[in-house]
Amino acid sequence: MTDKLRAAGITCVASWLPKQIITNEDIVKMGIDTSDKWITEHTGIKERRWHNGKGATSDFAANAAKKLLKKAKLKATDIDMIIVATCSPDTITPSTACYVQHKIGAIKAAAMDVNNACSGFNYALAVGSKFVADKTYDNVLVIGAEFPSKYIHQNERTTFVFFGDGAGAVLLQEVKKDYGIMSNYLRADGSGAENLIVEGIGTLFEPSEAVKRPTIKMDGRAIWNFALQAIPDAAKNCTEKAGLKIEDVDFVIFHQANYNIITEGMKLLGLPMSKTFSNINKYGNTIAASIPIALEEALEKGKIKKGDIVMFIGFGAGLSWGANLMRWS
Ligand SMILES: CC(C)(COP(=O)(O)OP(=O)(O)OC[C@H]1O[C@@H](n2cnc3c(N)ncnc32)[C@H](O)[C@@H]1OP(=O)(O)O)[C@@H](O)C(=O)NCCC(=O)NCCS
Repeated sequence: MTDKLRAAGITCVASWLPKQIITNEDIVKMGIDTSDKWITEHTGIKERRWHNGKGATSDFAANAAKKLLKKAKLKATDIDMIIVATCSPDTITPSTACYVQHKIGAIKAAAMDVNNACSGFNYALAVGSKFVADKTYDNVLVIGAEFPSKYIHQNERTTFVFFGDGAGAVLLQEVKKDYGIMSNYLRADGSGAENLIVEGIGTLFEPSEAVKRPTIKMDGRAIWNFALQAIPDAAKNCTEKAGLKIEDVDFVIFHQANYNIITEGMKLLGLPMSKTFSNINKYGNTIAASIPIALEEALEKGKIKKGDIVMFIGFGAGLSWGANLMRWS
């Protein structure tokens, strides 16, 4: 360990999404008591991707990682560490990151998961950037990857329409001084654990229950109220830690939970909608994968420029929330 820190930031982004598009009309045709109007008005979602072939979350993550390695012109053996943020892991153990490490051939990489659902990407980003900043590692892959279509149930219509599968990966490397991650702010409140939970798998459940299909259960109103407190808290504290004000932020990428939360969130922050980007209409809520998936598209659309102050804000199961602030390099 060296005593001097260096600047660490995101230098490359890539995502992978399953090919199968499920529209709101498709969901109505499945016999779910819902409508395109309800889903659009309450969430902003028009369609999502559900993977209907063989495979597991690590396949999504490995696909995103391979695309990223190609873009960054790196070999898998250049990767020092892989952190997968997921709450839909391949198995309870080993970690999904270990499967990814093997699937991409990153034979020199350490591997671990961060299980914090919709704030998982922000947690993993904060952890990964520390390893680059303190010079332990040069190339850290942070991947948000989720397969919630395996955990939703037709009897739970709210979550059935909400979630989508996908993966997004970022590369963390040293960047020029005064660029990169400026601050991170991470919080949790486990008293709200039951408001958003995957039931049926884990030691909380008896083995007889555990063989049932695990199902996401969500108290939508409770999560809504929590999100609208978490967003300003994360934004205020993360910007203050960097010695900045919220109005100094050039661009915000939110966890894509619900388009209405994003519009309310921007109002609470006092920022115009031109300073954010959402693609929830196309992909639904992809949990830990949503921020890197949205980030890649925002970059492709030229919405983020070198030098911009970019904030990532996540909130969800745990309850947990947090933000990272980065001067884009
Ligand atoms: C889930 C959410 C969209 C529901 O919207 P809402 O405006 O709060 O709606 P409510 O829960 O009050 O329900 C309104 C009605 O819609 C119904 N409803 C719920 N899901 C429905 C669906 N898919 N289709 C049609 N109607 C539905 C409810 O049963 C309720 O009917 P009722 O008034 O007859 O009882 C909203 O609460 C939300 O976005 N919460 C945050 C969830 C979130 O972000 N989760 C991810 C966290 S990372």
